[in-house]
Amino acid sequence: MNSGTVHCGPSDESITTSAGQNDRIIIYVQIHIVSHPLAESLLASLRNAATGPREFRQNSEALGTILALEATRNFPVVATTVTTPIAETEGRNLACPLVVVPVLRAGLGMVAPFLQLFPEVAVGYIGLERNEQTAAAETYYKKLPSLAGKFCLCLDPMLATGGSAVRAIGLMKDAGATNIKMVSIVAAPEGVAHLNSWHPDVEIFTAALDEGLDDRKYIVPGLGDFGDRLFGTF
Ligand code: PRP
Ligand code: URA
Repeated sequence: MNSGTVHCGPSDESITTSAGQNDRIIIYVQIHIVSHPLAESLLASLRNAATGPREFRQNSEALGTILALEATRNFPVVATTVTTPIAETEGRNLACPLVVVPVLRAGLGMVAPFLQLFPEVAVGYIGLERNEQTAAAETYYKKLPSLAGKFCLCLDPMLATGGSAVRAIGLMKDAGATNIKMVSIVAAPEGVAHLNSWHPDVEIFTAALDEGLDDRKYIVPGLGDFGDRLFGTF
């Protein structure tokens, strides 16, 4: 990847979603819900309570690959000249460095696809854990490179209340990030609205926008505790 002068700003695509059955909250957000039969099939497997950690890990990575391709669809590029065995032609190179920031632990399940697709990707880490009583995200670890001028992706499979995403993205902005996308496997409308209210510049890429949260702030229907299912810590 080489650095370029291409602007790394967010796109202005947006859609309207509604949350809840009675409380019709209308939110305007930059959200992309991937639509592909393979993504749906992988998500169904992840949702299934009978799926064990081995299959859960494999399918998280496969779905992560689809999300990675979608989340980088508008990656800035620069023109280059390529000489084929036949003729000169125009090609494209990635125009700025890519950094992914998984939110520990669950976000680790989405890192491998990025390492495979983008071998030069840098990986920063943010450790957050929800307080079991309040569901508020508490920071326990942070290791970030400078994020200025980079195309940054925050990886957290579950966007529930959005507290973790809001905190993680705040820390990424403190490290200089101005172009951040959020990549989740399942999002709740509450989390989408919360993230959007704090960071309206951040586009969200997800495989599903679910119904809402239960009284423990778990996503419904969701898939349960992602970190526990990924690492077999029940
Ligand atoms: C889970 C999940 C997210 C967070 C989402 O992490 O991985 O980081 O909850 O919830 P929120 O949107 O309400 O903040 P958890 O605290 O369970 O930690 P873990 O990943 O280590 O299991
Ligand atoms: N964290 C999870 O792992 N699952 C949820 O449904 C909510 C937060």
